Amino acid sequence: MEILYIEGGKKLNGEVGIATAKNSLLPIMAGSIISGKKVIIDKVAKFSDVMQMSKILESLGVIVEFENDTMIIDSSDCNKYAIKEEYTKKVRSSIFMLGPMLSRFGKARVAYPGGCNIGNRPIDLHIKGLKSLNVKIEERHGYIYCDGRNMKGGEVHLDFPSVGATENLMMASVKIKGVTTIHNCAREPEIVDLQSFLNSMGAKVYGAGSSTIYVEGVDSFCDTEYTPMKDRIIAGTYMIACAMCGGEISLSGGKKEHNQAVINKLINLGVHINESKGYIEIKSSGRLKNIPLIETQPYPGFPTDLQNQILAMQTIGRGTSVINENLFESRFKICNELNKMGADITLKDRMAIIKGVSRLYGANVTASDLRCGAGLVLAGLVADGYTTIQDVYHIDRGYLSIEEDFCKLGAEIKRLNK
Ligand code: EPZ
Repeated sequence: MEILYIEGGKKLNGEVGIATAKNSLLPIMAGSIISGKKVIIDKVAKFSDVMQMSKILESLGVIVEFENDTMIIDSSDCNKYAIKEEYTKKVRSSIFMLGPMLSRFGKARVAYPGGCNIGNRPIDLHIKGLKSLNVKIEERHGYIYCDGRNMKGGEVHLDFPSVGATENLMMASVKIKGVTTIHNCAREPEIVDLQSFLNSMGAKVYGAGSSTIYVEGVDSFCDTEYTPMKDRIIAGTYMIACAMCGGEISLSGGKKEHNQAVINKLINLGVHINESKGYIEIKSSGRLKNIPLIETQPYPGFPTDLQNQILAMQTIGRGTSVINENLFESRFKICNELNKMGADITLKDRMAIIKGVSRLYGANVTASDLRCGAGLVLAGLVADGYTTIQDVYHIDRGYLSIEEDFCKLGAEIKRLNK
């Protein structure tokens, strides 16, 4: 079993490159089967979720090959449209294979992707949206059976700006005759990236990044080669790490505009953050006062995927901070582990009240999910003494090698086999 071992207390200094965005790669890989043409994706970060998604594609008859960090996808012989439970329970985002399979085959069958560690992750918005496109849907024996042979475009209204549901509906609509309008869409940068990818293979999708997306059906596609955006959550994680540890770091590939909500909070605390020539530079004293209130919201609000990381930072800030987690009902599992390290966090429903303490102490802690693990790494970097983190596999789902990145920034962190 692998663990991370961290000697805390070091300021961070140095430069690190930001990997390609996990939450762009996953929908783009799903969408690659729509055209049946060759799809080349460059600068692929081989997160474990990405490798799982490539196994899902291969289970459908898709050929996925790697040449270094280039992924070559040939779905010309893809002939299956059913995804088994063994896959959907590992990678929840397999649910947005529905849209591409409906576009390609007019049919789809996906095992119901149950809950996960951060919440029960319903898919009612996906189902309701697809039904608005005249997809006949039956849910039985843990599977979702979709018949989209008579899909019709028109107006679709999302009750909530769900990222995955927006992506599913975009991909389900690309071949529907006429124009399909999707209202109350998610506005995340990864949605804009998916639009760019779909259009690079011949689709006609407009409006991503706003709350209304228009999809004009097409019936022919072309080969494409595409480089997805950089991972804004990894970039945001490292910005917060520098803010709380102190020091001066440079991130190559990040974009300030993708992390404005976090950057505004950090700048208000006196952290210096500048962007020039494709680099984001962060400089911090490390001794910060607390942010009184943080509310996680859909983009462009404060991202839920950086909530555990900013929470770790608040444990050693001066003063009290309140964090409301409005997206997922079980995204505070990190708090027990941080309290083991000397933090003073009280939980009430979806609210965490954090009283800043002067220091954290190293401890043996366990990651319960991807972003909880990232938050615990940040806490270990700033704690007195050494910290070990179990269940590191959670972190590997969304960070290529978090210990290598932080070593480049001068931290004392290594991965051990226990
Ligand atoms: C995407 O998940 C991301 N995953 C998540 O990142 C991210 O936390 C989330 O968007 C919010 O930004 C990928 O892109 C692969 P949602 P998704 O549908 O699409 C509710 C990470 O750490 N909802 O926008 O599943 C849902 O319960 C992961 O990288 C419904 O009620 O998120 C939640 O409260 C974690 N019904 C809210 O909407 C539905 O049918 C937002 O979920 C769908 C969602």
